[in-house]
Amino acid sequence: MIDTRLLSGKDVSQAVYTTLDPRIQSLKQTGIVPSLAVILVGDDAPSKVYVKSKSRQFAKMGLKSETIPLPEATSEAGLISFIDELNQDSSFHGILVQLPLPAQIRSEKVIRAISPEKDVDGFHPENLGLLTSGQPRFIPCTPKGILKIISHYKINPSGKHVVVLGRSNIVGRPMSILLSSKNENGNGTVTLCHSSTPDIKTFSRQADILIVALGVPKLITKTFVKKGAVIIDVGIHRIPNNSEKGYEIVGDVDRKSIEGKVSAITPVPGGVGPMTIAMLVENTVEAAEIQST
Ligand code: GUN
Repeated sequence: MIDTRLLSGKDVSQAVYTTLDPRIQSLKQTGIVPSLAVILVGDDAPSKVYVKSKSRQFAKMGLKSETIPLPEATSEAGLISFIDELNQDSSFHGILVQLPLPAQIRSEKVIRAISPEKDVDGFHPENLGLLTSGQPRFIPCTPKGILKIISHYKINPSGKHVVVLGRSNIVGRPMSILLSSKNENGNGTVTLCHSSTPDIKTFSRQADILIVALGVPKLITKTFVKKGAVIIDVGIHRIPNNSEKGYEIVGDVDRKSIEGKVSAITPVPGGVGPMTIAMLVENTVEAAEIQST
């Protein structure tokens, strides 16, 4: 048994807010309040929760965020023309379209419609291209937050075998690019596993750093991990139970199972989640700075 360190994203996010504060104040001195438009289409329950916690944090920092709810039946063309209006509206520095979108809307078309200068999610192909070629503009919030966690806790991916489970455009794919890039938080040797990987365990057991973004509650147990590994749990699931609250929040990793075997793990809640929000605030402040110069 070894001591497993908890990597608190809550603590790191507070440190991020402290460093953002003077940047926000200096923008305010020139009459600029960083401002974000959040578009929420339909009634996806988890999306509503995420959007609420984003706007709560913006209010806490004295920033502007406006959530625009649109009906489930919104058409792709209707959404795109609304985004066009926001692109032209200089009172918003950032535009975020909460995903997933209803089935009749192709998310890649919608993401392409967002002005790359306002794409604080970093999902636009131009921004992903810049990231891939080592000249990032906006880095997607969850991978960026994970890099901040590992650098804060002095975990250096250089020379390590990093295994990323999940290839989504939101987390796994940009994460794999960043961790293999030639920079101070990169230089890892990265393996990217996905739904067509025949036996994920073969790879996850080799990981010095394991990033889990599969979306399956408590999938990763002690037989999936190497002794002494660092585990980053991106999953977040609300599981009904008999407690007073009626549910518990769990990740993709079964923390109880791997504690004592791995050297460090991000808790759920309080790990990656708060960092995603902190990075959205940071990207919006950056967008306001870029647009004001
Ligand atoms: N849905 C889940 N995560 C995200 C995110 O980071 N950005 C957006 N826009 N939608 C999401």
